[in-house]
Amino acid sequence: MALLHTRRLLATPRLAAAATRASSWWSHVEMGPPDPILGVTEAFKRDTNSKKMNLGVGAYRDDSGKPYVLNCVRKAEAMIASKKMDKEYLPIGGLADFTRASAELALGENSEVLKSGRYVTVQGISGTGSLRIGASFLQRFFKSSRDVYLPKPSWGNHTPIFRDAGLQLQAYRYYDPKTCSLDFSGAMDDISKIPEKSIILLHACAHNPTGVDPRQEQWKEVAALVKKRNLLVYFDMAYQGFASGDINRDAWAVRHFIDQGINVLISQSYAKNMGLYGERAGAFTIICSSAEEAKRVESQLKILIRPMYSNPPLNGARIASIILNTPDIRKEWLVEVKGMADRIISMRTQLVSNLKKEGSSHNWQHITDQIGMFCFTGLKPEQVERLIKEFSIYMTKDGRISVAGVTSGNVGYLAHAIHQVTK
Ligand code: LMR
Repeated sequence: MALLHTRRLLATPRLAAAATRASSWWSHVEMGPPDPILGVTEAFKRDTNSKKMNLGVGAYRDDSGKPYVLNCVRKAEAMIASKKMDKEYLPIGGLADFTRASAELALGENSEVLKSGRYVTVQGISGTGSLRIGASFLQRFFKSSRDVYLPKPSWGNHTPIFRDAGLQLQAYRYYDPKTCSLDFSGAMDDISKIPEKSIILLHACAHNPTGVDPRQEQWKEVAALVKKRNLLVYFDMAYQGFASGDINRDAWAVRHFIDQGINVLISQSYAKNMGLYGERAGAFTIICSSAEEAKRVESQLKILIRPMYSNPPLNGARIASIILNTPDIRKEWLVEVKGMADRIISMRTQLVSNLKKEGSSHNWQHITDQIGMFCFTGLKPEQVERLIKEFSIYMTKDGRISVAGVTSGNVGYLAHAIHQVTK
């Protein structure tokens, strides 16, 4: 009788819909927090203040605050359009001209590794996707440890990338908040205690978020130590060219480690140094002990990639490949990379001089000492909160600012606001 009654009730459309809602598959799914970096952009977009600044995500802007498409990219696009190229699938490992040129960009044209062929490079979906391929490969094939040691702090996305691939996160000291600079002795001390055959992640240059890199002499010590500890070194190289303005200089650490006989892993991104953010062009390289080993490793990378996304996107890799492989366009690119790096350096100087003009008595030297796209200001979370609420100046909670978002038009406003919340 009760059953009949229920059936009759459900026959009315509104109640039937309610019953469907009640039996949702996803009622247990909790609201998650916004992304610590990309969520800042979402909040910025909602703000109606005309003076608002987005210093959250690391994306280069020109001096009028506009997204910047490099001239070399426009030229490469024009070449692609004029050749009326097809849209066929790429091979699983990506565009061969692109992956070879990416390896050469990281390792240097005279690299013994390139000549002997004891490496494999596959195309990845920008830096994140390339790291994720690496993390999944480690999860499947690195049998001696599950532990990945990250610098403290590291890029916010490193943790979920490795964790979601099934690895465990550990940390080593890297940054000293008291001096706003590298904690070299702390780093060396912690690294010397990492269990042998663990994985260590190093930022090849322009450390994100701190803007603090070891000097070449310090890198030499790190290389000797990781070799002694027999650690597997994974370089994240998302900012080649952005630290010094010179792509070879920025690859110094990677090349030095390899010269020391350390067979590293490398993830590369063309988001920053070619401004190909949304094109998702990147590469993942494993240096092996022989060309024969590299072939076996490559076969397994393909097996990993195929069920993830089948094969990588074409357009960004084509653009990057034309830039890397066409001598006069490559030359133009190198000038443009230097131009971006130089504009950021000049914004650092201008920010410090504007802070002085405001009357700030703090020592802001770390702003000019740090390098790359980011400045780890040392601002406290409550000061960041005030900058967002009172001045519509957006940045990540850790006090990192993307200096690439500062312009000669807004640097005065930024200095004024920072002074107001720090005096
Ligand atoms: C950043 O750190 O802001 C960039 O690497 C962009 C990103 O994806 O987080």
